[in-house]
Amino acid sequence: MNATTQAAASNQKQDATISGGSSSGARAGSVGVALLGMGTVGAEVFRLLEENSNDFTHRIGGAVEIKGVAVSNMSKPRPGVPDELLTDDAHALINRDDVDVVVEVIGGIDYPRELVLAALKAGKSVVTANKALVAAHADELAAAADAADVDLYFEAAVAAAIPVVGMLRRSLAGDKIQRISGIVNGTTNFILDAMASTGASYDEALAEATRLGYAEADPTADVEGHDAASKAAIMASLGFHTRVKFEDVHCEGISAVTAKDIAAADQAGYVIKLLAICERLVAEDGSESVNARVHPTLVSKEHPLASVNESYNAIFVEAEAAGSLMFYGNGAGGNPTASAVLGDLVGAARNKVHGGRAPGENTYANLPLADFGEVTARYHIDMEVDDRAGMLAAVAQEFAKSGVSIRTVRQQDTGHTARLIVVTHSAQEKVLDATVHALSNVPGVKAVDSVIRLGA
Ligand code: NDP
Ligand code: HSE
Repeated sequence: MNATTQAAASNQKQDATISGGSSSGARAGSVGVALLGMGTVGAEVFRLLEENSNDFTHRIGGAVEIKGVAVSNMSKPRPGVPDELLTDDAHALINRDDVDVVVEVIGGIDYPRELVLAALKAGKSVVTANKALVAAHADELAAAADAADVDLYFEAAVAAAIPVVGMLRRSLAGDKIQRISGIVNGTTNFILDAMASTGASYDEALAEATRLGYAEADPTADVEGHDAASKAAIMASLGFHTRVKFEDVHCEGISAVTAKDIAAADQAGYVIKLLAICERLVAEDGSESVNARVHPTLVSKEHPLASVNESYNAIFVEAEAAGSLMFYGNGAGGNPTASAVLGDLVGAARNKVHGGRAPGENTYANLPLADFGEVTARYHIDMEVDDRAGMLAAVAQEFAKSGVSIRTVRQQDTGHTARLIVVTHSAQEKVLDATVHALSNVPGVKAVDSVIRLGA
């Protein structure tokens, strides 16, 4: 038997098993897919699925066939996509009898929510890359998937090709997660890196990130931290078995980060990164709560996260038994996202062919959500003050009054005024906030220009 006939025989054997063994209603040996969206991600999902269809058949144990592609603009050129597959009626496509799995890569919240719920209620498994949708409506979507006994996969929703969701849902399902922190937005990492390393302006760097397909259709979601906050909500929910929604995540973006901040960070031995931090907090009485937040953070140049550049993402997970784990890779862009979508599609298709379901979410722990004010951090505070005797003492006194311990102070002369750069020891957010407010009212303090948290 040559390789071709061997493969054909093996396919026949698999197909025979599939026809006899399918417990799910997928037509014998074939899984029908509705692809909703043909943009940056959808186009790559289509291409990779078509180019590697034989491999997918082997990996799944049955063929995957795209039955239709829903788009918004029917007259846009779609090279390589047969016209007969295209439709602007996503609902009709979802409800076709020959569609078993729906892949949602449209984006937004309300319309995809409608489509995904319709698909789940019709008994179709769903794969989505849509972090905004999952972070806002996970409870409702999970309930619909459970009620219909179908799968809801969303690996691409967090850091695209980096298998964060699968790691939290499966690999670390037997462990206790303490903290998840990392760079989960490629656009903002690209912008901060370009500003620091090439001197590009904020606008130039954002335009390039958009051209490369990293940024969301409306880049506000990226630069204001909303995209990272959605991802933080998903990671915290999975990691702590507690529902954390988008609106529960404290969120600060990078639009207020200036070239001056980046230069000050550089001089002090840091780089500025937008971090998502999900933390299990343990009170003195042992009671636990959860906090998720996104904000610009000063990361020491020695720390591995400092060298995560361009649009790359990296995620640290600290777990009780596993210890510290780090995941690094492509967190945005058509191909990396398509990789995660296709991994999910293989999982959903296998379950359709062979029976079984993907691990679902479990929010049994239902831990209370800690207020952001309770969180502790170290701070880098940059202020402009009068350059005169007693100024440093007046500033130090404000810190002392609120019990915030100063670690270092640097002074730079700028002419008539001076810049004081104070780095604190750990303090609670609410205490630091009150201190900054009080500092603004100290005679001689012209402005508190920036307050950036330290640490990864
Ligand atoms: P794009 O904006 O590039 O593509 C969106 C697609 O959806 C387009 O094909 C568009 O149609 C189609 N569409 C829009 N409205 C409708 C509608 N009413 N009915 C049918 N189709 C519609 O988005 P992306 O590919 O970048 O992102 C898709 C999803 O993947 C989002 O949820 C995003 O957050 C997520 N994601 C994206 C990543 C990335 O790097 N780009 C990374 C990780 C996740 P048309 O082509 O006709 O305009
Ligand atoms: N806009 C997102 C980013 C895409 O820049 O990371 C990946 O979710």
